[in-house]
Amino acid sequence: MRGAGRRALVTGASSGIGAATARLLAAEGYSVVLLARRADALEGVRAELPAGDPAQHLCLAADVRSRSEVAAALETVEAAHGGLDLLVNCAGIGCRARVEELEPEPLRELLATNVEGLLLLCRDALGLLRRGESPVVVNLSSIVGRRGIPGQIAYAASKAAVHSIGEGLRIEWAGEGIAVCTLAPALTATAIFESQHNPANLAPPDLRGADDPARVARAVLDLDRRPVPELSLRRSWRVLGALSSFAPRLADRILVRRLGDAWRVPSR
Ligand SMILES: NC(=O)c1ccc[n+]([C@@H]2O[C@H](COP(=O)([O-])OP(=O)(O)OC[C@H]3O[C@@H](n4cnc5c(N)ncnc54)[C@H](OP(=O)(O)O)[C@@H]3O)[C@@H](O)[C@H]2O)c1
Repeated sequence: MRGAGRRALVTGASSGIGAATARLLAAEGYSVVLLARRADALEGVRAELPAGDPAQHLCLAADVRSRSEVAAALETVEAAHGGLDLLVNCAGIGCRARVEELEPEPLRELLATNVEGLLLLCRDALGLLRRGESPVVVNLSSIVGRRGIPGQIAYAASKAAVHSIGEGLRIEWAGEGIAVCTLAPALTATAIFESQHNPANLAPPDLRGADDPARVARAVLDLDRRPVPELSLRRSWRVLGALSSFAPRLADRILVRRLGDAWRVPSR
């Protein structure tokens, strides 16, 4: 129970990585605020949280794209807890499409959720974080956030933005004593692939060998205890990301070999 007394807000807590994070934090003694759009799914997650005072954990139905819904949710957090020690920005959606298949509205929805929603939630939660104890923000990126990838360009771009936000924000908020961490999970077995925009029905990833959401949740917990600027859950992708900056042609070859026959190495 090393998190006893800490107050955490987890967005995207109704499913997948966010739900696993809420479970682990509750087991470690945190008071958890679960936020997502589906109230029934949030209540389902809360019902599974380790026993204790049920009022310790709050479910707040809100869309991270809506400033008024987020403001109302944060007012409830303020009234219940007075401050926040940990903010986990996990709400996010996927997109599997080649550029020629991209449609404006799903693209706007992706960026409004994964980038604007995350950034403005950081802004809106600042007052609560200022009143937190050793406050930490963990923003969920992805291993494709440091290396663009064919067939998922829009999603990878949204996650690249999460890295950029973390790089700037950890310096902006250094004077506040707020640690900002970017966490890049690898392929993780969740429902994200079922609901994502996929106009050409591109093959979903093979989830055999995918990480369990509990592994990502453990990384969130570790970051709250010992914050680091960036944590990638696949060393090979971290190396590929770095290689893409100083040897992009070599990085392309490695990536195409890894992805298989559907893609070709650029010749010019
Ligand atoms: N699964 C992977 O392989 C993987 C890998 C790397 C990074 N990630 C990242 O990890 C995060 C969690 O993904 P996941 O795999 O756990 O997916 P998931 O199971 O589909 O969960 C996504 C969560 O985000 C919430 N959400 C989506 N849009 C929202 C909105 N507008 N407002 C509030 N909540 C919203 C969903 O809840 P509601 O529908 O109830 O709103 C749900 O709780 C995402 O940021 C994702 O990009 C996932």
